[in-house]
Amino acid sequence: MTEFFLRSLLFCVLCVKLTVAFADEGMWVPMFLSKYNEADMQSKGLKLSAEDIYSVNHASLKDAVVQFGGGCTGELISAQGLLLTNHHCGRSRVQSHSTLENNYLENGYWAMKRSEELSNPGLTVTFLVRMEDVTSEVLNNLTSEMTEAERYLIIEKASKALEKKMVEGTHYEAKVKEFFGGNEYYIFITETFKDVRLVGAPPYSIGNFGGDTDNWIWPRHTGDFSLFRIYADSLNRPAEYSPDNVPYKPKKHFEISMRELKEGDFTMVFGFPGRTQEYLTSFAVKQLVEEEDPLKISIREKRLAVMEKAMDSDPQVKLNLTSKYAGISNYYKKYMGESRGLKKVNAVQKKQELEKRFGEWVNADENRKVKYANLLPELENTYNEFAPYNQGMVLYNEAFTTLDFVTYVNSFAKLSELLKSGVKREVLKVEVEKQVKYARSFLKNYNRSVDLESAKNQIKDIIKYMPEILTGKQNKKLNKDSNKYITSLFSTSLLDSLESIAALYELIERRTHYLYPDTIKLENGFGANDLAFQFVSTVTQNFKENIYPNYVKLDIKLDSLNRIYTQALREMQTDKLFYPDANSTLRLSYGKVEGYAPNDSVTYIPFSNLDELIAKENPNDKEFVVPAKLKELYQKKDYGEYAVNGTVPVCFIASNHTTGGNSGSPVLNAQGQLIGTNFDRNWEGTAADVMYDPTQARNISVDIRYTLFIIDKFAGAKYLLDEMKIVK
Ligand code: ARG
Ligand code: ASP
Repeated sequence: MTEFFLRSLLFCVLCVKLTVAFADEGMWVPMFLSKYNEADMQSKGLKLSAEDIYSVNHASLKDAVVQFGGGCTGELISAQGLLLTNHHCGRSRVQSHSTLENNYLENGYWAMKRSEELSNPGLTVTFLVRMEDVTSEVLNNLTSEMTEAERYLIIEKASKALEKKMVEGTHYEAKVKEFFGGNEYYIFITETFKDVRLVGAPPYSIGNFGGDTDNWIWPRHTGDFSLFRIYADSLNRPAEYSPDNVPYKPKKHFEISMRELKEGDFTMVFGFPGRTQEYLTSFAVKQLVEEEDPLKISIREKRLAVMEKAMDSDPQVKLNLTSKYAGISNYYKKYMGESRGLKKVNAVQKKQELEKRFGEWVNADENRKVKYANLLPELENTYNEFAPYNQGMVLYNEAFTTLDFVTYVNSFAKLSELLKSGVKREVLKVEVEKQVKYARSFLKNYNRSVDLESAKNQIKDIIKYMPEILTGKQNKKLNKDSNKYITSLFSTSLLDSLESIAALYELIERRTHYLYPDTIKLENGFGANDLAFQFVSTVTQNFKENIYPNYVKLDIKLDSLNRIYTQALREMQTDKLFYPDANSTLRLSYGKVEGYAPNDSVTYIPFSNLDELIAKENPNDKEFVVPAKLKELYQKKDYGEYAVNGTVPVCFIASNHTTGGNSGSPVLNAQGQLIGTNFDRNWEGTAADVMYDPTQARNISVDIRYTLFIIDKFAGAKYLLDEMKIVK
């Protein structure tokens, strides 16, 4: 009895320590909430049950959350399919509807009736219908002797079979995903809607207020939201765009809370975080902080400078490149924050300490020694071996394939292969027509001078860090006068004009007509004399032959070692509740409205407001322009019911563990009502993708009251509010 009592007391002490130490860390799996998190969440203020959040038996909060366009999250806020997400998630769609005359990106867009909602080909939203743990089915036929390749094939086969079986006779889709590095597998049954229309977006100066200067920064004053509507067929089922489609009636939509928000209030974020790597070893973190992040930062810095110069001098270029620029700069800054943050929390050292404990734990037991004694040394060696190939991969992805001319010129490869092997005349004709069509659309938007300037920088980066990607002959020319050589790549016939493509075709026709009446064959393929084509294809081939296979081989080995390490850590830390790394599946994070101290002399409160926004105004800085209408509302204090203490709340921060992909996620209060839309993190907090520090990691959200204020007072689209259920 006493022993039991003592043991449970000890257990409780551990519990308390645990919950304190890991207060708000974790991206939890919806189907396990009742098992692992419900009690903890309720003790922190949640007024709902786990079943209210995720249920397979009745409508629950999860039915109001969607994955938006593949990379973001959105939430349903009316019974008529109205959807709220971030401005930066809908940005490329707003851009696609914009011209210099009707610049919705710059000035905003508001459909004043249903017929003005704009369709977006290719945009989809996906609901989670349900999920199941299928680990035993998937891992059923594995043995410990298998190679990684054999293992992969068996898992693939079992997954495919399950994916088929689970959705037979429905319009749903199913996908098996790995968790804990491949120690567990869950299946996701989803429903995807394809008619998603733009309803409203504020002007850029609200939706991206503060721009890149404020991006990843708290305090923040960005109205980063946009509105869409899901349409369905007459049976409320997904359908391709049709004027006959009707607004989708969701199983669930969020109530919106306009009630007071206080520091310490319980919050949760429900969304689709993309990728975290919480269980890496010190070797991997070191490589990330010291090599990978700095390399990406330096490549992007130069790319952005080239783009910015061109955008500043031409409004059309600005419109064309805005969305792309924002995407590049976003992660440029993220990598900086991440490496700084990881240094600040001594991530490498903390991982080393954990590894030391791990070594002791292994050595304390003979069985463990057999299983795990070589694990860490092997991981260390493999990461060392991996380093140059990883660098090559980064260079290839960041410095080579990001050059537009590379993508373009590469698109001729298929034509070239066909010609080399010989192709029927009719087939070739079709291929040439396709190619000309693609080339026409590419050349229409192509910015040659931006691309050339970037090429000069980026190809030099490749020479500097990994000349092996280039081949010998090119190396010599590049080393002699790289600018001259790179410039000559751009005076190629392929980039010059469409006529030359067509002319080339005719030439082939004429030359080969008598020799081969039905088929056309060119020994050297297409573009044998085209400098750019030669350059791009040799570099690509060289990468594919010498860098990529080694990268993949070592990456697979690392995956396997990391899987074993993750499992071993779970065996070692039995007192710790593990959550799987983010993998673009639906997760719930919870925490509270909470400020933080970035250093000893500064402490931030968790709220921002309109007065501060106005104080940041700078008409001469494009990132800090305040639209006239917003200023007018401010001057007249025309805040309606959105006023709080004489101003309007704009953004707030909370300690919910989030990452890229969580943008647009609903931020909910203890009752499950919507209080904001997640859109960012503080800079220090981005390190949480690798190591979460509860004192530093904060997610940033647009306060729902600012969103309503902008829709109602700024845009005059109050009719949209009438669809919503707003609790005051
Ligand atoms: N940093 C946020 C995220 O990763 C917001 C990005 C959008 N804003 C921007 N200026 N690019 O998506
Ligand atoms: N802004 C990110 C997104 O687009 C969210 C984040 O990284 O915190 O998903």
